[in-house]
Amino acid sequence: MLAVRPAKLNDLDAITEIYNEAILTTDASFDIEPKTDAEQRVWFDSHGHKYPILVVELDGVIVGWAALSEWSDRCAYADTAEISLYGKEGFRGKGIGRKILEEIVVEGEKAGLHTIIARITEGNSESVHLHESVGFEHIGIMKEVGQKFGRLLDVRIMQKIYPSKS
Ligand SMILES: CC(C)(COP(=O)(O)OP(=O)(O)OC[C@H]1O[C@@H](n2cnc3c(N)ncnc32)[C@H](O)[C@@H]1OP(=O)(O)O)[C@@H](O)C(=O)NCCC(=O)NCCS
Repeated sequence: MLAVRPAKLNDLDAITEIYNEAILTTDASFDIEPKTDAEQRVWFDSHGHKYPILVVELDGVIVGWAALSEWSDRCAYADTAEISLYGKEGFRGKGIGRKILEEIVVEGEKAGLHTIIARITEGNSESVHLHESVGFEHIGIMKEVGQKFGRLLDVRIMQKIYPSKS
């Protein structure tokens, strides 16, 4: 059974394992080197109520995570976040990504965010599909902004704006 909950510090090793596998084997992340525990601790500590991290468990095993991270440290951007979403290798394509994406979008609204930005490597049609299905719109394409595994990569920007409460 799938269960989504806020991440705790002792989930960080499982989160890091999932992320580092994706760094090494996919172009979804533009990181090239695996993250160290110390780097991940800084990342974890930069999240909280306003910028949540969620994990999804399958029968008690963490099989994915999602985060809403600060888009910029310039104060006027405070209600804008960037989404990250990773499923564990071997468990993809089974509804885990959809489940945690739907939940983190709800958490972002509860946290008082106004908008979420997604940067998706061009060609990741599964991720584009999932984001569209929870209300993200296409904003544009940044051409040839990354290079990984010997290929120049375009990045699609998608955005979800929460309805105004007024
Ligand atoms: C992207 C990712 C998080 C999705 O998680 P997942 O558990 O594999 O996804 P799900 O099984 O919940 O959903 C996949 C959806 O994509 C659809 N899909 C599958 N292949 C597709 C394709 N080639 N094109 C479009 N849609 C596709 C599925 O039908 C499903 O949609 P549905 O729920 O409407 O039926 C996961 O594959 C992953 O971690 N990939 C590597 C890292 C990554 O790309 N992260 C996203 C960075 S933006």
